[in-house]
Amino acid sequence: MAFTITKAVIPAAGLGTRFLPATKAMPKEMLPVVDKPAIQYVVEEAVAAGLTDVLMITGRNKGALENHFDSMPELEATLEEKGDTDRLDKVSYSTDLADVHYVRQGAPLGLGHAVLRAQMHVGHEPFAVLLGDDLIDPRDPLLTRMIEVAGETGASVVALLEVDPSTTHLYGVATIEATDEADVVRVVDLVEKPAQGTAPSNYAIIGRYVLQPEIFDVLQNTEPGKGGEIQLTDAMLTLAKENIAGGMYGVVFRGRRYDTGDRLDYIKAIVQLAVEREDLGSELRPWLKNFASTLD
Ligand code: G1P
Repeated sequence: MAFTITKAVIPAAGLGTRFLPATKAMPKEMLPVVDKPAIQYVVEEAVAAGLTDVLMITGRNKGALENHFDSMPELEATLEEKGDTDRLDKVSYSTDLADVHYVRQGAPLGLGHAVLRAQMHVGHEPFAVLLGDDLIDPRDPLLTRMIEVAGETGASVVALLEVDPSTTHLYGVATIEATDEADVVRVVDLVEKPAQGTAPSNYAIIGRYVLQPEIFDVLQNTEPGKGGEIQLTDAMLTLAKENIAGGMYGVVFRGRRYDTGDRLDYIKAIVQLAVEREDLGSELRPWLKNFASTLD
């Protein structure tokens, strides 16, 4: 039987405290990156990889997220009356993008706990997990490649990026072994956010995973780890060490990735994406050069 995967899980229950006060009453996933909420990029990425069944793991205060992927009859009627089809298309695009479902996490017990909340919806099928803080440039497909590798190996696959050694403490970090394919590695060890200077490598987990459903049983038995939270990294370590459901592979990503997880990276992501936009880039680029020349 051909390997198919249809379901994407997007954890979106975080409080977004790094962006207060903007996130006091608005989910951080709704922060605009140029003119689209960050979460829409992630759903578009899942859909581009063929995953049209999206489950978001949310919490209190996430109503705006649900509204964004629902129809907005009054706004649509107004735009229709005006004959503004461009904007009408933008509004209905996110409504029709995917079949979006929601389940609440209930308590902020960690990424592993959030993923475990997807068990009922996912059932006994492989599935993808996409974290909203990492945006992957659509010109550099990553998830499609990960799904391909999961199909070839029958195992779980995590996305890895070589990062500067000074930043490894911000990520899950993998110890890897090469395979016959240049962009595919075997994951032999994992550590969640190692203390500075102690990381076993520079291969950091970025927020894309293709997981076999056996991860759910493992997560159920995973004790709280780093920060007192149930860590997905720890559950993947068990898959790797005990070679459960084929163990763990990594796809090493060498494309463009934008981090929107903290304020500085978020600003950089917006500038990087905006200069490349057809409708904004030609005016923004010269302005930016001029502005930069006024800085010391
Ligand atoms: C999570 C994971 C971590 C991973 C990171 C990627 O951490 O726990 O292993 O490297 O996402 O963005 P967070 O940044 O949500 O604390």
